[in-house]
Amino acid sequence: MTTRILPVNATSPEPENIREAAEILTAGGLVAFPTETVYGLGADALLPEAATAIYAAKGRPSDNPLIIHIAEFSALDRIVREIPPQARALAEAFWPGPLTMVFNKSAAVPLATTGGLDTVAVRMPSHPVALALIREAGGYIAAPSANTSGRPSPTLAAHVAEDLSGRIPLILDGGPVGIGIESTIIDLSTLQEAEGDTLSVPMILRPGYITREMLTQVIGTVCDDPGFSGKDPQTRPKAPGMKYRHYAPKAQLTLVDGEATAVISRINALTAQSCADGKRVGVICTTETAPAYDAHVVRVLGSRSDEAAITQQLYALLRDFDALDVDLIYAETFFELRLGSAIMNRLLKAAGYRVISTKKE
Ligand code: TXA
Ligand code: MG
Repeated sequence: MTTRILPVNATSPEPENIREAAEILTAGGLVAFPTETVYGLGADALLPEAATAIYAAKGRPSDNPLIIHIAEFSALDRIVREIPPQARALAEAFWPGPLTMVFNKSAAVPLATTGGLDTVAVRMPSHPVALALIREAGGYIAAPSANTSGRPSPTLAAHVAEDLSGRIPLILDGGPVGIGIESTIIDLSTLQEAEGDTLSVPMILRPGYITREMLTQVIGTVCDDPGFSGKDPQTRPKAPGMKYRHYAPKAQLTLVDGEATAVISRINALTAQSCADGKRVGVICTTETAPAYDAHVVRVLGSRSDEAAITQQLYALLRDFDALDVDLIYAETFFELRLGSAIMNRLLKAAGYRVISTKKE
């Protein structure tokens, strides 16, 4: 199969391009398209064979459920069993946008789409191309990130082509995405009507651009899934996809945590040692610290004060390292940023949770 890359206007998509993509989707085919978070690999969410085609193209384990993308709030009625009031409040605040909510699913949603679960994850993206495509294709597009399983999510159409060329007929190229990391996922499926039983607290299954603080402001207490930190290998994450190795570059990545000066000197010492061992070393750092490093490849995510740049560049930079000839990569950490939990969730996974602390115990 040849893969066509079709440029599309990101703010006001050409109707004929959207129609061409929608025809592929309604016939059960796959189309990659931009969202504000990352590029998605879309299929008609209500056709079981379409979901199966997504798993095949991505090489994704079929127990890993897909997010259904909708363009109007009223579209929820057909795919979920009940809409808790918290969902209305969150939608009001954050939809369209980078928030995915998990509900109990209705019978209209095939088990192939939800990886066999009785719950369904739903998101209303804000990207004009995504919204136009969803509307034109019947209202329900299942879309995981458009990477092959295990690679960083694509933030450019070229990343999608790198991973999926020859496997899908069409990529809508709307240019670079804005946010660069995947949506926040919150589980609302455990909320029940109060009937004397204890109400459970909504749980964040994947951290993202919408932070815990932002969610708490709208619906009160929200907790983090203890499984997504990866700190305790015994605690399994609730989102099936969070257990898989992800985002990892080919070279071994190690994170170095602590005060800036201590981090710089530790990374330089590790680099010197690795060079003495005949290894080629890469460093991932910030504009402020880059001049202090002396490694074969030094790559900058952006200024530490510009977290939008850091999330936007993260996956492209991890991908770029695969084309560079390095054996080891050392990276700074970003725990203290507002989006620190989301950024570090991805970096920790990419590093297989290898972290060196320069802090005194
Ligand atoms: O920003 C995003 O969310 C992007 C764009 C394309 O919308 N999509 C995305 O999809 O990141 P994907 O498939 O790469 O990640 C979906 C995550 C997986 O970790 C999956 O296990 C989890 O959502 N998930 C999906 N349905 C779920 C459910 N019913 N219960 C718990 N977790 C679920
Ligand atoms: Mg993904």
